[in-house]
Amino acid sequence: MPKYKIAWLPGDGIGNDVMEAARIVLDALKFDAEYLPGDIGWEFWKHEGNPLPDRTVQLLKSTDVCLFGAITSKPKEEAAKELDPALADKGFVYSSPIVKLRQMFNLHTNLRPCKAYPGNPLNYRDDIDLVVFRENTEDLYSGIEFHPLPAEVRDVLAKHSKGMQRFAQTPLDEIAISVRLNTKKASANIVRQGFEYAKKYGYKSVTIVEKPNVLRETSGLIVREARKVAKEYPGIELWETNIDAMCMWLIKNPQDYGVLVASNMFGDIISDLCAQLVGGLGFASSGNIGDKYAVFEPTHGSAPKYAGQYKVNPMAMLLTVKLMLDWLKENKMAERLEKAIAIVIKEGKVRTYDMGGSSSTLEVAEEVARKL
Ligand code: NAI
Ligand code: MG
Repeated sequence: MPKYKIAWLPGDGIGNDVMEAARIVLDALKFDAEYLPGDIGWEFWKHEGNPLPDRTVQLLKSTDVCLFGAITSKPKEEAAKELDPALADKGFVYSSPIVKLRQMFNLHTNLRPCKAYPGNPLNYRDDIDLVVFRENTEDLYSGIEFHPLPAEVRDVLAKHSKGMQRFAQTPLDEIAISVRLNTKKASANIVRQGFEYAKKYGYKSVTIVEKPNVLRETSGLIVREARKVAKEYPGIELWETNIDAMCMWLIKNPQDYGVLVASNMFGDIISDLCAQLVGGLGFASSGNIGDKYAVFEPTHGSAPKYAGQYKVNPMAMLLTVKLMLDWLKENKMAERLEKAIAIVIKEGKVRTYDMGGSSSTLEVAEEVARKL
């Protein structure tokens, strides 16, 4: 029997292209696994009214870990227009399957490393080594949203919050609310994950990226939890910054930072910024990690205009495979893979279009496989 069962979810568009590349490298590593394909994404929304069919959830529950490509996702109204007419008016409402997976499996930690590999012509600087820890289940992405605003909700808010009284006369259908909900538990956890990583890999500081001067309750709670957790790690400094200033500092002096910790939305924003500093979405890997299960995915989307053309850079996906191998404690394989990736980047002979080359997605994967 193979050592691991891997849920294999290519999803939509270039998700398929890069997952094929992942398989080339996993096979070359002689990674001992059974790959169980699963359905997720736009086609299943259109034809079944559910982009995350229950059979896929069951499949994930029967595996050790999940590797995921990318999905196409659209706002509610656009999604409704593309639903199979036979399913219209049946009460199906679109929501992102990857956000659902994170919440359903309590994949509380989103790990997003951004390292400048030497020789990558897309590096903003060559001395960048950032890791973003993004809280993955709460915050503005909790999914608690209203439009139109129910009158009871407005009345309760007005009773408890002076801020709401300003909107007492605004018609309910002219108000939309998305709730930013943060708990002490998840906030302390994401900070602790950041500090543990800093301790393991020798980073001298952990930077919490919030906005407590304005978001006094939510960011305030997160920063207070961060200070408590930081006391458990005497050798590592806690740096406190605001999200807006941090975007500026990351452009000015990215080499000064190491581990960054943020709530869900701020983490989403800075991780794209960090990704661009080291070559863009073609290099941005990520893991959605819970206590017992994890879903690994490149941070890019389905890039419909490149779908099926085998043009996009598989490095983000291959670095994602590296993260998965680390999580499975196959550290030697992970190290071999990262070294091979670094060699291919440095040699610069086989490159996809984004790096100025004309090699295909699979040619890059094959070149990495040769260097293992
Ligand atoms: P995207 O990440 O799919 O692509 C944006 C652009 O980035 C592409 O047109 C391409 O120029 C570049 N790019 C992306 N991946 C690349 C790669 N591996 N190599 C080289 N260049 C690459 O983002 P976009 O266009 O905003 O979204 C397309 C669809 O993907 C949407 O439906 C969106 O909702 C969805 N999406 C899904 C995500 C997921 O599956 N977790 C994440 C982000 C977007
Ligand atoms: Mg994002």
